[in-house]
Parts: sequence; structure tokens; C-alpha cells
Amino acid sequence: MMQGKFISIEGTEGAGKSTALQFIKQYLTKNNIDVVWTREPGGTELAEEIRRLVLHPMSFEEIEPETELLLMFAARAQHMKKYILPALNSGKWVATDRFIDASYAYQGGGRGIAMDYITMLDKWIVGSTYPQLTLLLDIAPHQGFERAEKRGTDKDRIEQEKMDFFVRVRDVYLERAKQDPERIKVIDASVPLFAVENQIRDVLDEFIKRR
Ligand SMILES: Nc1ncnc2c1ncn2[C@@H]1O[C@H](COP(=O)(O)OP(=O)(O)O)[C@@H](O)[C@H]1O
Ligand SMILES: [Mg+2]
Repeated sequence: MMQGKFISIEGTEGAGKSTALQFIKQYLTKNNIDVVWTREPGGTELAEEIRRLVLHPMSFEEIEPETELLLMFAARAQHMKKYILPALNSGKWVATDRFIDASYAYQGGGRGIAMDYITMLDKWIVGSTYPQLTLLLDIAPHQGFERAEKRGTDKDRIEQEKMDFFVRVRDVYLERAKQDPERIKVIDASVPLFAVENQIRDVLDEFIKRR
């Protein structure tokens, strides 16, 4: 069977990633594409446990940036081998709420870890199983936060960072999109939902056509 396609959705908090993922699932299914969805950090039982560790607001001990990065990649290694690769190899498409670009954006941009270290882990753990399409939902961090606040879920440990952290995260996302415009499509996520979905539909149509 032919390998499935791999799509990731990226963006800062409240950009609309989870909302977009639902739309993408529905749209691909309507086009007779067998798609499964997942998220990072997480996606397997163990990786979800690591997610809980790394995102839980901890009062007793600060997590060092290096520890955070390695936990993200530990979860990713598990996710790749146990979930993403088997699904792609069985011909399914995989859509994930966050993936490798988030490590560059959050741990590189946000935390200031040298990109070379992230590239090293990227080559080792992700290798050639790269998303063929990444939808970057771009929004000013403060606008995203207003949305997330309305959604009303508690902030996790990383979401509790200050605004300048998310400005750096966004900058790295946009910089990566500039470096790799074939793969990373920037979606203006600041507009009403129907207008976001129109942009996503256009990108997906184009992607399905050249599959
Ligand atoms: N384009 C949009 N305009 C207004 N509100 C939106 C839009 N997209 C999503 N939302 C709402 O904003 C909140 C955050 O969206 P969500 O998909 O959870 O973001 P993320 O997963 O990126 O954090 C949700 O309540 C969602 O319904
Ligand atoms: Mg979400």
C-alpha cells in the first residue's frame, strides 16, 4: 500500500489548532482519505504521560530548558515509532496538532536553546519522516490569548509564560515558514473562523491535487 501523507498543524496558544484539526479531519474524510489524528506532546500512552509531566504546572521544582527539550523528544520518539510510522505505513494520512516545528519555536525561540542541538535531535528522531504539509496558524499572541481565555481551560506550565516568550515563538515559526515555503503554509488565523477554514481548504485542495 502507498504511504500515507503526514500533515502537522502549528501555532501559538489560541491560534485555533484544535479547531482546525477537526475541520481538516472532516474535509479529508469527505474527500475519501483515510485520516487519523494525534497531538504532541503525546499520542501514545507513555507519550501522554510525558505530556502530563512536562506541561503540568509544577510548584516543587523548575524544569530546565534542556530537560523540557529532551522530554519533548522522548515523547516524540515514542510517538513516531508506535503511532505515526505504523499509520503512515498502513496507508493512512496522519494529522497532528503540533510536531517538530514546535520544538524549534518553543524550546529554541522561547527558551533560547541553540538551534543546532534541536537540529541534531530532529535528524535523529524524526529523520526523513517529515510532514509534507504544515499549516502554520499565525496570530498575534495576545489575540490568541484572548481566545484561549474565552475557551476557559486552565493554563498549562508553558502557557503561563510571559507574552515576550510567545512573540519569540511566533517569530521562529514565521522564520521557518520563510525558509521552507513549500512545506509550511502560513494561514492568517486572526480572521473569523469561516475565513480561516477557506484558507485551509485552498491549501488542502492544492495538496490533495499534487499527492
Ligand atoms: N477564527 C476564529 N475566530 C474566533 N474564534 C476562534 C477561531 N478559531 C478558533 N476559535 C476559538 O478560539 C478558542 C481557541 O481555539 P483552539 O482551536 O482551542 O486553539 P489552539 O488549539 O490553537 O490553542 C476556541 O474557543 C475556539 O472555538
Ligand atoms: Mg489546542
